[in-house]
Amino acid sequence: MKKAKLYIDDQEVYEIPVLEDNMKGISLDIRNIRKDTGMITYDPGFGNTGSCQSAITYLDGEKGILQYRGYPIEELVEECDFVEVAYLLIHGALPDAKERYKYQELLNQHSMLHVDMLDFFRKYPDHTHPMSILAAMGVSLSAFYPEINLEEDPEAQMDLTVTRLLSKMRTIAAFTYRKLIGAEFVNPSYQYSYCANFLNMMFHSPVREYTPNPVHVRALNKLLILHADHEQNCSTTAVRLIGSSEANLYAAVSAGICALWGPRHGGANQAVIEMLEQIRDDGITVDEAVKKAKDKDDPFRLMGFGHRVYKTYDPRARIARKLCAEVLEDLGESDQLLEIAIELEQHALNDEYFIERNLYPNVDFYTGIIFRAMGIPTNMFTVMFALGRLPGWIAHYLEWNHDPYEKIGRPRQLYTGPTVRHVIPLEER
Ligand code: SDX
Repeated sequence: MKKAKLYIDDQEVYEIPVLEDNMKGISLDIRNIRKDTGMITYDPGFGNTGSCQSAITYLDGEKGILQYRGYPIEELVEECDFVEVAYLLIHGALPDAKERYKYQELLNQHSMLHVDMLDFFRKYPDHTHPMSILAAMGVSLSAFYPEINLEEDPEAQMDLTVTRLLSKMRTIAAFTYRKLIGAEFVNPSYQYSYCANFLNMMFHSPVREYTPNPVHVRALNKLLILHADHEQNCSTTAVRLIGSSEANLYAAVSAGICALWGPRHGGANQAVIEMLEQIRDDGITVDEAVKKAKDKDDPFRLMGFGHRVYKTYDPRARIARKLCAEVLEDLGESDQLLEIAIELEQHALNDEYFIERNLYPNVDFYTGIIFRAMGIPTNMFTVMFALGRLPGWIAHYLEWNHDPYEKIGRPRQLYTGPTVRHVIPLEER
């Protein structure tokens, strides 16, 4: 094993084992550095820190590569549907026809919600953000389905737990939308596939004939695949951290939903549309928008641009941009927001500020326009991201659950508070 030597001034203080992963990635193994030297490392936001070993997703931010269990995202989006990719992330291999059919059966079997859960929806105010309902209902599943015993018959238990979560979250998402528009819930139906079921639960109406548009169904499968996993991102790290305390899967996923909600993370797809609408409605030119995004005194940011890891075009954004044009063409529609987005992208990609900082469109830049074309409201966009990311969160939770190295997550800190001082009694203060 290679070793790195740590010097302070000219004094060698420590030898650090050097690890190499399957993609020739090099890391310094500092697991014992505090025990051996009393020192810790400092890396706010963990941008340079490997928190675990994982076999689920590989991405190369410099080359714009994304692979789920070794399969390139471009192939999965073209050749598979979302249920196959969910199975792949969780089981490590694509399902054969028999396994795919069994998974679909389990998803249908577990698609209904306990009738008492329906009362919860009714009590939320109509202005509630759907992500708060999704997070609350997600963790409430542990009250109605407490048995998650991954020890006995792990494979069967895992399939039951996972398909229950995948299926019920989809129902919760659709029921949330129906509640917020004041409509009756539409139950899932055996006759539909995973994505068609979701669209039917969202948009079925008793007063007009509704069948899910096949263009929408195909696009939704691709969009959910694009969102299905992304290595140790903010929300997945939250899920693994919660899992490391041995909290149950529903609690960990609910934490992932809350982490995803933020506009710097999954909330960006909603923020992109709001940004494009602001540009359109306020009559801001693209040139002015780019100028505002570069102005440090202006809080305006080019939402959907930039990424912690991708320092080139996010491969998912490339696929989403192509899908966006295809869906609008198939629907015989145009969208002024898409025109603004394309002009914004072209302008930014030729601007020194964005080039210097390696700021490119990320997964959120175009996906919102496709969700809009399906009739999904802006405040539901991050819910759609969560539905897509769910199998990734589950896969990472289970990977942690089976990893002998995993300890409870507990980072250290650099203390910047006051040195010790003593209490003066209240009457003397
Ligand atoms: C997702 O991690 C994942 O994998 C996440 C995700 C997933 O699938 O899980 O890919 C999903 O979260 C995608 C990202 C969605 N968020 C947004 O689109 C929000 C807008 N983007 C920014 O908030 C930002 O780019 C982040 C948060 C995404 C990344 O921030 P970093 O890597 O911490 O970059 P930074 O804040 O250090 O910025 C570096 C420079 C700064 O300028 P300087 O101080 O060097 O002068 O770039 C600037 C920033 O001000 N900058 C931007 C910008 N993003 C960064 N300037 C204008 N517009 C932007 N969008």
